[in-house]
Amino acid sequence: MKVAVSYLKSNRSKEETLSLLNKSQTDFVHVDLMDGIFVPENNLDLEETIQLLKDCQKPLDIHLMVEDPLKILSKLASLKPAYITIHVEISNVQECLLEIKKYHIGCGLAINPETKEDALYPYLDFIDQILVMSVHPGKGGQTFIPDTVEKLKSLSTLKKEKNLSFLISVDGGINKETISLVKDYVDMVVSGSFVCMHDEYDAQINLLK
Ligand code: DX5
Ligand code: ZN
Repeated sequence: MKVAVSYLKSNRSKEETLSLLNKSQTDFVHVDLMDGIFVPENNLDLEETIQLLKDCQKPLDIHLMVEDPLKILSKLASLKPAYITIHVEISNVQECLLEIKKYHIGCGLAINPETKEDALYPYLDFIDQILVMSVHPGKGGQTFIPDTVEKLKSLSTLKKEKNLSFLISVDGGINKETISLVKDYVDMVVSGSFVCMHDEYDAQINLLK
């Protein structure tokens, strides 16, 4: 199981957090970007984000909680991320997935807690990652929503039955207790505050692994 660490909620500056993540055993740096429309929070400063991440040594896993990703994809592509994930709840899903693939970047679809997994079905053959939200998107440090486990189970069964190749990832409220609920059904977990609100990043990452 891979671990992606989100630096959204950290007790250090973003720069210090990134420098510690670069030296850690995390497999990916998870980048949460929000536009103030898809979610109330807004941290969509692309120049700052690119400045912060351009020398990052870990592969980037970008999670776009934004209503219209099309206008920002070309700038983000310059970071050569491993994945860019958009939300299945937005209106131009297909167009955005095609655009991400055009840059030879892995494309992902995130799904909110209240959205049924059927919404993902039209895209299953095409996508490289499913990001199952286990909290309402927008903030780090929230509590894991237990219903997520059923959704993960069903997606994991479907993946096996149809021999599909996307990664299943889960995002929100992952810690040393909730990991045991999800570990059998996921290829990757995203963890934020459990890692970045502590002193020893690798100790926390190893507890998850
Ligand atoms: C929530 C973000 C998550 C979040 C995870 O909107 O997508 O990536 O930062 O943080 P924790 O692990 O603290 O829930
Ligand atoms: Zn995220």
